[in-house]
Amino acid sequence: MTTFDPKAFRRALGNFATGVTVITATTPDGQQTGVTANSFNSVSLDPALVLWSIMKNSGSVEIFDQASHFAVNVLAADQIPVSNHFARPSDDKFAGISYSKGLGDAPVLPDCAAVFQCENYQKLDGGDHWILIGKVVAFDDNGGAPLLYHGGAYSAVIPHAGVKPKDSEATAAAEAKNQKRLDNNLYYQMLQAVKRYQTGYQPLQQSTGLRTVEARMILTLNDFGSLTASELEQRISMPDQDLQAAVEVLKRKEWLAMNEDQLSLTAAGTEQAETLCKIASDRQQQVFGQFSDEEMATFRKVLDAIQ
Ligand SMILES: Cc1cc2nc3c(=O)[nH]c(=O)nc-3n(C[C@H](O)[C@H](O)[C@H](O)COP(=O)(O)O)c2cc1C
Repeated sequence: MTTFDPKAFRRALGNFATGVTVITATTPDGQQTGVTANSFNSVSLDPALVLWSIMKNSGSVEIFDQASHFAVNVLAADQIPVSNHFARPSDDKFAGISYSKGLGDAPVLPDCAAVFQCENYQKLDGGDHWILIGKVVAFDDNGGAPLLYHGGAYSAVIPHAGVKPKDSEATAAAEAKNQKRLDNNLYYQMLQAVKRYQTGYQPLQQSTGLRTVEARMILTLNDFGSLTASELEQRISMPDQDLQAAVEVLKRKEWLAMNEDQLSLTAAGTEQAETLCKIASDRQQQVFGQFSDEEMATFRKVLDAIQ
């Protein structure tokens, strides 16, 4: 028996950032499914093995049992709607979805960052999940920016600005020259600036006891007055199940109220929004207060011009 709160456990697990996949399969008699899964991981290079886990009570377990193969579609950064679509139970998950047929007829989705086509290799008992191990028999590596999942929300990769590129062959002089070039590169400078801005901002936001996603929900509702859950979901890029969990947290704190299908802030929630706005504007003032209006106008113009 688990002795701790499963919600708290799930939240803690959310600190581990993952990619997002849609895992698909088709039975010999043509039933097909696709399941959004972030439990995907690599296992072995030789033989080439990967794994993922599926909830035992998922409506798709039977299909994965009967199918000879499954395809792991690794989603790209712009495929949030695809992730949300395959996270919802449905009688026909492929209605209105374009795909091609891979090995064992497993549906292969277009425009993914990568696809791994697998033969069923082993099925293990993993508590309330089945662990499915596949032997990779074909793969596509399209590269491109992947979709990430972290802290119950979708996220995107930005390269870590604090690490110099590996260049072990370079001489000290060449390294110094490269470093200088990097320091003058505006993309690199922007990444470093965002990182420094965040470093100063995050502890202040965390001192409110709110997760980033919860703070984002409060600020969004403060801006829009009231929204339905699906409107809110679109604005803050969270999967449905995580949005519901965050709504529950904020309702319990009595910061959020639900009227018919509309979510809105209570008076206490609005007060919290004011605190968050103040934290954001104080940080902005701390960083940008030293510049004149004219300089800031130029800065905004440059930001707006970035395509
Ligand atoms: C980001 C994200 C990751 C998920 N990861 C998994 C997973 O690893 N395993 C799983 O069984 N369900 C996972 N789910 C939930 C399933 O996608 C969802 O329960 C399933 O598609 C529902 O349809 P079904 O009827 O096919 O079970 C995830 C959902 C989201 C939004």
